[in-house]
Amino acid sequence: MDRRNRYEEIGIDVKNYLAYLREVGIESIPANNKDHDSSTMDGTKRHGEESKPPQSVQTLESLREKLGDCKRCKLHKGRTHIVFGIGNPHAKLVFVGEGPGRDEDLQGEPFVGRAGQLLTKIINAMGLKRSDVYICNVVKCRPPGNRNPEQDEIATCLPFLEEQIGIIRPKVIVALGTHAAQTLIKTDTRISTLRGQFYWYRESVKVMPTYHPAYLLRNESKKKEAWEDIKKVMAELRTHGVHLPSN
Ligand code: URA
Repeated sequence: MDRRNRYEEIGIDVKNYLAYLREVGIESIPANNKDHDSSTMDGTKRHGEESKPPQSVQTLESLREKLGDCKRCKLHKGRTHIVFGIGNPHAKLVFVGEGPGRDEDLQGEPFVGRAGQLLTKIINAMGLKRSDVYICNVVKCRPPGNRNPEQDEIATCLPFLEEQIGIIRPKVIVALGTHAAQTLIKTDTRISTLRGQFYWYRESVKVMPTYHPAYLLRNESKKKEAWEDIKKVMAELRTHGVHLPSN
């Protein structure tokens, strides 16, 4: 008996039940009981507690409107532009960086400086264009002098990143560097330990932590490891029907 018949037999209106689940923040249900017991499904790791998903809005445009001329944290004082994010709103792959640097702050677009040029090369080497993927950051305003984003700034901005991910519903997120990885996976483990394996974000999106392109510019020898991580991402994307060159 399939799931629908089972639910109907015990008197559950499937359509309303799914609408209810969506309303309380549950975007997907496991295909069967075996899948539900998925704490280490195909080796993907879990870390930390799930927080409640933010209330969802319909589109990236309406989310950007909701963000408005944001003054929710102190980073607004030094910014030129809010760097919301850019790319394909239906992307199967999302890159999340740390926060805008000087070039990004001036142009209002993520990853356009030197580190961004390296990220673009990585995306192209995957057989993709920037416009195929979505690119954004943990914090949307430039930290002064490119310092690390502080916990209160990350916490204030995080609901917007979570909503972006909820709207795009990618299959894979590449977390670029310590802050993106630790924020998405909810851990304080260092990036060198985290990188190279998948973790779950909200039980539905695989997160691959890897080195930040700015770090790779300073540490050329780490590029090989980063490319190993990206190859795993490519293999995962292929399982979702994305056609990519062999590597
Ligand atoms: N570094 C980041 O983390 N994000 C950007 O957008 C640019 C540089």
